[in-house]
This record gives sequence, structure tokens and C-alpha cells, in this order.
Amino acid sequence: MSATKEILALNRFEATDAAALPADLAARVARRQATFGASSVLFYKEPIEMARGEGVFLYDVHGRRYLDVYNNVPSIGHSHPAVAEAVARQIAVLNIHTRYLTAPVEAYAEALLSKFPAPLSNLVMTCTGSESNDLAMRVAEAATGKAGFIVTRAAYHGNTRHVTAISPSSSRTKPVPDFVRVIPEPDPALAPDVAAAFAANLQAAIDDLEAAGVGFAAVIVDTIFSSDGIYADPPGFLKAAVEVAHKAGGLFIADEVQPGFGRTGGGLWGFSRHAIVPDIVTMGKPMGNGFPMAGVVTRPELLSRFCEETGYFNTFGGNPVAASAGLAVLGVIEREGLIDNAREVGAYFKAGLATVMGNRRDIGAVRGAGLFIGLDFIDDGGRPDAGLATFVINALKERGILIGAAGLSGSTLKIRPPLCFSRDNADFFIEALKAVLSAR
Ligand SMILES: Cc1ncc(COP(=O)(O)O)c(C=O)c1O
Repeated sequence: MSATKEILALNRFEATDAAALPADLAARVARRQATFGASSVLFYKEPIEMARGEGVFLYDVHGRRYLDVYNNVPSIGHSHPAVAEAVARQIAVLNIHTRYLTAPVEAYAEALLSKFPAPLSNLVMTCTGSESNDLAMRVAEAATGKAGFIVTRAAYHGNTRHVTAISPSSSRTKPVPDFVRVIPEPDPALAPDVAAAFAANLQAAIDDLEAAGVGFAAVIVDTIFSSDGIYADPPGFLKAAVEVAHKAGGLFIADEVQPGFGRTGGGLWGFSRHAIVPDIVTMGKPMGNGFPMAGVVTRPELLSRFCEETGYFNTFGGNPVAASAGLAVLGVIEREGLIDNAREVGAYFKAGLATVMGNRRDIGAVRGAGLFIGLDFIDDGGRPDAGLATFVINALKERGILIGAAGLSGSTLKIRPPLCFSRDNADFFIEALKAVLSAR
């Protein structure tokens, strides 16, 4: 098995790549690195300077067009006019925090909450997925009086101090802290009965936290397991895990930052695929289609319990411009039938990729739901092949396609285009993938 990959290392430009860059691009990269320093993360051996986006396409400063099969924030399409118009209209009138009543904020909260099953009826608005998960952890700690969290082994849940602790894929060097336990991703290759194995691993981790005196507060999962390598099947496999968590007196937190807002093609939420009702749901990325907004939805009594101990105020969270962007996103998803499109085009795309796999020995699996598909590259011995994933990512870029990697070793192609992706776009991708694989 190839070494475990830190999430930000995947498809990353390295300083050693600089020597091969054309002079003008090398100067642009040097300018970035001089200001951002060690925190600069750029994609590709030859980074791209972007100029604009439209629908499923991005255009660089030279006018070159790229088919976007990577970005999940502009989920309803890059620079969607409905969002641009809503944001421009509201910011010209009023933008302020939530300590005054403002019409778009209440309207958005009601519209969003109408998309959740009972008893999930309270919303806290934040600005990032990280803030949402941080708050969810604090709500779980207050509700249970316990400190322990359980996550999957290549999970990524964000970048605050607390949330980095539950994001094993963020750490280059450190093991997870004492209050965290990691369990294997729900991969049928590890255990064919995914539901039973995942629930049993969860139970063992809960027992371990209890035995250590930490106690079990919550299990938190991205309901499409994005950074773990994309695991959607069989539908319903998370049900047993929710039962285990509840029986132990802990909570189940669904991180919908990646699958939320229609991507899996089976409703707005990844958790819908599993017919479960989480205790806490966290959202972000596609919520404002690029306008930074995020949120936490939970049961009123859990939020009350937390607010008895700690007040929560988020200066920018839930401002009227964000609410207007969010309303526009919900409207477009419905008007443009994007959930149906994700399901139909996603099924067509996955079937096409499975056909490519059928003819090759270097693809080990194709899996996913809606427009979130994972494709595993393997070597001659059947082991994960992160080198091939990196080769394909860079070769597809040369053919005008943007894509990224995921998984414990970075050997899974993460296929995650905007939800307005078409069958023609899928065909274009499949032909390009076949070409780069046969040309190597
Ligand atoms: C599953 C998941 N949760 C949370 C986050 C954190 O969101 P943000 O970067 O908006 O803080 C991410 C970001 O990649 C994510 O993929």
C-alpha cells in the first residue's frame, strides 16, 4: 500500500516544480509565495491563473477553457447569474449582522429548514464548514457531558484547532489526540458487509473511549466519505451506526459540507440516502455557490443546552447578503432540476466509467452516488496507485479538464463536477480519460 497522503499534498505544486515553469508563470508563482509563504497551496506541477467561470467551465488568463470536474462550491454552476444578481441587489441595500431582524435572513432560515426532517428545526448560520463542525462538536460536548469523537481514518472536517484534531487527513506528522478515535472507511474491499463492519468498528471505538475515561460525545461523518475515497453504498448502511451511537448515549453528526445541496442525486442531503435523521447536520461549501456561508441544523433542545452554557454569535454568519445568496441557490436547484440532473447524469457517467474499468487492469473500482464518483487506480499487484492518479490529473489538465484525488493514499480520482454537468460533458471526460490512460 502506498503511504498515507495528507489532504493538502494531493496534486500540489512543489517548489521543485518551479524550475520547469515558463518565465512569466514562474514570476506569478514567486509573487504568490513571497506573500503567502509556507501556507501557499497551489494545484498542479504547472499552476493555472484563472480569469473567469461560467456553468461547468473555467477560463484561464490566456482564454483557455477547462471543464470543471473538481469544484463543488460553485455547485449550481460557476458565476450563476441568479446568485450574482441576488448578492449585488442585497449588498447595495443592506448588509449587517444578525442582531437586527432582516427579511432575507428569516426567509432563508425557513426555506432551508423546510428541507429537513423533524425534529431538525433550528439553524445557526456561520461562514465556513470548519466553524460549523467546531460548533457541532461543542453542542455535542454540552449535550453529552463527554469529550470523545470518532471519525474515519482519512476524514477531513476543517481547519480550526478543534476540528483539525478530528481531521486525520490534515496531519503530516501528528497522531490524533487522546479524545479522538479513528475507524476504517466503509470500504466493501475491507469488509463486504459494510453496515455491520462500520457499526462494529464504531462500537469498538466507543468502548475504547469509555474505557479510557474520555467518554463518547459523537461520531461525525461526511455522509459521502469524500476524503476517504467516496463511499455511498449500499444505501442505508449508516442506519446501524446511528443506532450504535444513540444506544451509547452519543450523537450522530452528519457533515454535509461535501454531499449537501443535491450532489448525491437522492434529495438535498447525503444522509437522505441512508434514511437516517442525524442529531446535528453541518453545511458549507455549495450553500452560497461561492458566497462564503455555512450552517448548523439541529434539534432545539440540543441548541438550548449549549446556549445555556455558552453564547454563540458569529459576526458575518447569516448576514442578509449570505441569506440572499442561499435563497438564490435553493431556487436554482429547484427550478433547474439539479437533483434530478445529478442523479441521471451521474448514473450515466458512472456507467460509462465502469465500462472503461471493464477494459483495463489499472482501475480497481468505480463507485459513488449522483455527481460524486470515485475511481480507484491500482498497480499490477492490485495496490493503490497514487502515482497513476497524479499522472492522470496532470494529463487531463493538458486536455482541458480539472480533476483531483482523494482517499487514504491519494489513489482515487475524485469526480465531482458542478451539478449542471451534461451527458456530453461526461462523454468528453470519458474519452479524455481513455486517451490519457492508453497514451502512458
Ligand atoms: C467534509 C468537509 N467538512 C468540512 C470542511 C471545511 O469547510 P471549510 O473549508 O469551509 O471550513 C471541508 C472542506 O474541505 C470538508 O470537505
